[in-house]
Amino acid sequence: MVATVTNPLRVGLRQERVIAPQCLVIFGASGDLTHRKLVPALFELFEQRRLPSEFALLGCARRPWSDEEFRKKMADALAIRIQDDPEAWKRFVNKLFYEPVDLQKPEDVARLSGRLKEIDRWCATRSNRTFYLSVSPKFYASGCRSLSDAGLLRDPKRSRVVIEKPFGHDYRSAQALNQVVQTCGQENQIFRIDHYLGKETVQNIMVLRFANSIFEPIWNRNYISSVQITASETVGVEERAGYYESSGALRDMVQNHLTQMLAIVAMEMPGRFDPEAIRNEKAKVLQTARLADEVEPWNCCVRGQYGPGGSRANPLMGYRQEPGVEANSTTETYVAMKLFIDNWRWQSVPFYVRTGKRLAKRLSEIVLTFREVPVHLFDAATGRPTANQLILRIQPDEGAGFRFEVKSPGSGMCSRPIDMEFSYDQSFGEPSDEGYVRLLADAMLGDPTLFTRADEVEAAWRLYTPLLELIEDSPWRLPIHPYESRTWGPAAADALLARDGLLWRRP
Ligand code: BG6
Repeated sequence: MVATVTNPLRVGLRQERVIAPQCLVIFGASGDLTHRKLVPALFELFEQRRLPSEFALLGCARRPWSDEEFRKKMADALAIRIQDDPEAWKRFVNKLFYEPVDLQKPEDVARLSGRLKEIDRWCATRSNRTFYLSVSPKFYASGCRSLSDAGLLRDPKRSRVVIEKPFGHDYRSAQALNQVVQTCGQENQIFRIDHYLGKETVQNIMVLRFANSIFEPIWNRNYISSVQITASETVGVEERAGYYESSGALRDMVQNHLTQMLAIVAMEMPGRFDPEAIRNEKAKVLQTARLADEVEPWNCCVRGQYGPGGSRANPLMGYRQEPGVEANSTTETYVAMKLFIDNWRWQSVPFYVRTGKRLAKRLSEIVLTFREVPVHLFDAATGRPTANQLILRIQPDEGAGFRFEVKSPGSGMCSRPIDMEFSYDQSFGEPSDEGYVRLLADAMLGDPTLFTRADEVEAAWRLYTPLLELIEDSPWRLPIHPYESRTWGPAAADALLARDGLLWRRP
């Protein structure tokens, strides 16, 4: 991580991080993620000259493609992107190879080992390998075992495994998966992806907190009255009903992305800026986080599902009408809940978390609301003085805002809230990289800072276990509230905050 280091020597060292010669092996190379995210991210790294010249990408899947067919598929999928720099693509595409592999078949894995040696000879990749499991989660454990049995994970300095989400389906399955992967390699060889951690704005939370002296003294229960964490999407389930029906918003977004944001907002300052120190602090927060009402969790959680909506010109179908979704599905596409963190910093400060599909606006943000002034000396032009708010805008309008009261112009002494803004785009003039660019580079560098450690994943699952059990055993306790597409979700979620005298922010 670069940004928080002030010692010039260390800054220099961090910025010069060079990816060693290596072969990135993607299992599931015929899948969506490979051509939508991974190959574009690698091409970006190539154009930024951050890939070593001794680099190869070996795509693996069951389809019997040749190198040429794989290259052609990737070129077709990235056609628009390639138009910007066709020359670079011509150079990059020669680094792409393909091997038909079924990780369940020992003979395929043996052939893979041979192919990797061949690539080492051709591309000078020096047996240095990053294996990326972009396969169905049910193959994570067996995939790791196959690699380990073939001796491909033997050298912890030269082999790493990247595992996509979801890591487990609940606490027990995550624990069981951890046990398997940890017998296949050391923890520092395992890179569990959460693409939110690759976002510049999520990393910026740490910089904002720990590189400025003004925030840390007030970053606690004495000054902050509540925290809202939102990830709202306008898209529906798209073509992913097969996966989403057994996942729902709680597993798909809350257990991972929103919980990681919560951990970074709430963690203590790490003693050093190194991967283990940071992950220790995040794990500690997650171990002390709990549902606001663990005994009767239905009091602190709301589930919803989008119904039809949109306009006459652009009608949108409801979740239950989407292809592949059961006509009476009770999968939640929206979830809102209230959490507490039982430690000295956050005791009794509510953390409200919400996410949903087909909501009114696409945005992810974190809002810290500060305590109101104890005495109101001035009339508020808006009726009531607003509490100060720090808004960390994760996407799409990347940046931060601070809301505070100023004197409203005129002869009186009225106050009115205004927003002071920071925008990444305006300040740095270029959009930040896609999360996968950062995460792929870090995995190949062997830097686990932005990947979730075994204990973090387990603590995150444990946190939501009372809800998952409730949904499983007594679903009527957490009924699905329908909401119209392109609105802000069910009224019951507003009621959750209204009980505390609060409103969700609606930017
Ligand atoms: C993925 C979820 O992890 O994150 C998707 O599986 C969701 O359902 C996506 O759409 C959201 O990511 P982002 O970066 O667009 O907020």
